[in-house]
Amino acid sequence: MTISVSSDHAGYELKQKVIAYLKEKGINVIEEGAPSGDKPYSYVEAGCALAEDVLSGKADKGIAICGTGIGISIVVNKYKGIRCGLCNNEYTARMVRQHNNGNVLAMGARVVGQAVALGMVDAFLNEEFAGERHAERVGDICKVEEKNFK
Ligand code: RB5
Repeated sequence: MTISVSSDHAGYELKQKVIAYLKEKGINVIEEGAPSGDKPYSYVEAGCALAEDVLSGKADKGIAICGTGIGISIVVNKYKGIRCGLCNNEYTARMVRQHNNGNVLAMGARVVGQAVALGMVDAFLNEEFAGERHAERVGDICKVEEKNFK
């Protein structure tokens, strides 16, 4: 499995923790976004690189981090085929897989502590999509994309 992990400057430190955690588990990582936390780096650029990794198949899933998680989650959800949930705890990180078949987890480095963030990473990577009635809803999301994305 390959995971693309991207952040702006505000998420840089947490991004390094997440990357180290994934590598410890033997998971391949593509790092995108800010090269340090010292200088401002746009969450828009960071989100675009991650979305392109996932949609091109270079990465199976993505983890997107900015200060609140809001900006970068908005950006990646502008891409057809990305289903990103901004999560704040293990429950929501599990649900974004189980109910929404999410392919990107977003989190806010200024919102969640490191232990919660790593717990969310585990929940997101270990949970399967439940299918059935949820598959119908996700199918409906795809129809909305077909109708509204140019
Ligand atoms: C950067 O200061 C901050 O605006 C950004 O990380 C994010 O929180 C935006 O949604």
